[in-house]
Amino acid sequence: MSQIDLVVIGSGPGGYVAAIKAAQLGLKVALVEKDPTLGGTCLNVGCIPSKALLHSTETWRHLNHSKHHGIVGAEKLSFDVPTMMTNKDKVVSQLNKGVEFLVSKRGVEIVRGLGRLGKPGQVQVRGATGDRVLETKNILLATGSVPVELPFMKFDGETVISSDHGIALKSVPEKMVVVGAGAIGLELGSVWARLGSQVTVVEMLPAIGGPAYDVDIAKAAQTAFEKQGIKFELGAKVTGVKKTASGSALTAERDGKGLEFPADKILVAVGRKANTTGLGAAEAGLKLDERGRVVIDAHFATNLPGVYAIGDVVVGPMLAHKAEEEGVAVAENLAGKHGHVNYGVIPGVIYTDPEVACVGLSEAEAKAKNIEVKIGKFMLQGNGRAIASDATAGFIKVIADAKTDKLLGVQMVAKGASEMIAAACAHMEYGGSAEDVARTCFAHPTVSESFKEAAMAVSKASIHSL
Ligand code: NAI
Repeated sequence: MSQIDLVVIGSGPGGYVAAIKAAQLGLKVALVEKDPTLGGTCLNVGCIPSKALLHSTETWRHLNHSKHHGIVGAEKLSFDVPTMMTNKDKVVSQLNKGVEFLVSKRGVEIVRGLGRLGKPGQVQVRGATGDRVLETKNILLATGSVPVELPFMKFDGETVISSDHGIALKSVPEKMVVVGAGAIGLELGSVWARLGSQVTVVEMLPAIGGPAYDVDIAKAAQTAFEKQGIKFELGAKVTGVKKTASGSALTAERDGKGLEFPADKILVAVGRKANTTGLGAAEAGLKLDERGRVVIDAHFATNLPGVYAIGDVVVGPMLAHKAEEEGVAVAENLAGKHGHVNYGVIPGVIYTDPEVACVGLSEAEAKAKNIEVKIGKFMLQGNGRAIASDATAGFIKVIADAKTDKLLGVQMVAKGASEMIAAACAHMEYGGSAEDVARTCFAHPTVSESFKEAAMAVSKASIHSL
C-alpha cells in the first residue's frame, strides 16, 4: 500500500463512516478493528441487536392484545427465545457483511487487530497473524465506549449483567431488576417485560429517561411503561447485591431506608465510559479528561499532531448518529473541506413502545438559559391515525422562543417518535419556527400530524384540540 492518508482505529458508526467519507473524498484509508466483525458496539451488541429484539417482542405483545381486531386464539401462541436470538444474530450478521462490503468497495483497507499509537505518524496493529506498523499522515481514534461497572457489584455475566449479556439471554428471567432508567435500561427492560419477566427499574434520579427530557414527557412515558407491567423505583440509590434463600437480591437505599429487590438477573445500565484500552494513550502522551475521554478541539484534533478523535471516546452524547456526523466532518476537514456538526440538532430516541424522542432544548433547559418560551402540546388521543392504530399513549411537545417563534426543541412520547423526530430536526436545521411547522402540509392520516398540531398549539391555534 502506498503512503496512507488516514488510519481509522475502530469500525463503529463513527469510524467506518469516517473511513468511507474520507475514501469518497480521495484519501487513502486503512480501518483498524480488533473485533472479528465491523460495526462496533452499535451494530454488534447495541442499537441493532436491541432493535431486532424490540421488534420480535413488540410483535408478540401486539398479537396478545389483538382480540378487538378480530384476531383470536392468541392464548394458544407461544414464543421461542433461541429463535428470537437467531433472528437477531442474522440481522447483525447481514449488516456486518453490508458494512464490510461498503468499506471494501470504497477501497478502504481493513486491518484486523488491536491498534496502538506508535511513534508520530505510526499505528501499530497487533493481529492474530502478527504485528504490523502502518505509516500514515493522519490517525483518527474512534474506539467507542464500554459499559460502566458499579465497583461494588461487578459484572459476572450470570446474575449481574451488562447490556452485552442482556441481549443474549437464553431464557426469560422470572424476575429482572434493571439498574438505571436510561435508554438501555428502558429498552432492554421492555424486551424482557414483554416476554413475561417481572421487571423492576431502580433509578437514582426522580424521573426516567435522563436529564434531556422534561418531567411531563418522562411522566407520560413512565405511565405507559407501567401499564405494560414494568415497575419503577425512583430516587433509589443502589448499594449492592446479596444472596438470599431464593437466589439473589439487589439492595438499594431511599431517604435513608433500605430496600431489597429479589432478582434472577440484575441488568446494570448506568451509563458507558470512553474506551482507550490498548491504545497506548499514556505512552504516546495523549491528553484525556477527568472522565477518561480523549480531549479534542473544535476540529476534532487531539493534543498530538495529526491525531484526531470522534464519537463515544470524546465529549458529547454517546450516540451512533453523533459519531457518524463527526466522522463525516473530520474526513471533510482532512480532505480540505469545511466539516461541521450542528450539536444543537442531535436527536435522542428511546426505542420503547411508545418511543420517547427529543431534539434541541427541553423546556427546563430553555428556562435555565433564561429564554422565554411558548409551549405547544398535542395529545395523541386526538389523532385519528393513533386511534386507528392502538397508539394513543403519549403526546408531542413543541418548545418555541416566545419572542421569535423559532423552534428551540421538540419532545415526544409516541409510537413512531423515532421517525417523526426527523421532521423536527429538519425544521430546526433550517432555523424554522413553530409557524413554519404549522404551515407545512403533513399527510393525513398520520401520527406526524400531532407534531403539526403541537406546533399550531404554540399560538393556541390547534384545530383538533381545544
Ligand atoms: P444513561 O446514562 O442513559 O442512563 C443511566 C441511568 O442510570 C441514569 O438515569 C442514571 O441516573 C442512572 N444511575 C446511575 N447510577 C445509578 C445507581 N448507582 N443507581 C441507580 N441508578 C443509577 O446510560 P445507559 O442507559 O446505560 O446508556 C449508555 C449510553 O448509551 C448512553 O449515553 C445512551 O445515550 C447510549 N444509548 C443510546 C441508546 C439510544 O439512543 N436509543 C440506546 C442505548 C444506549
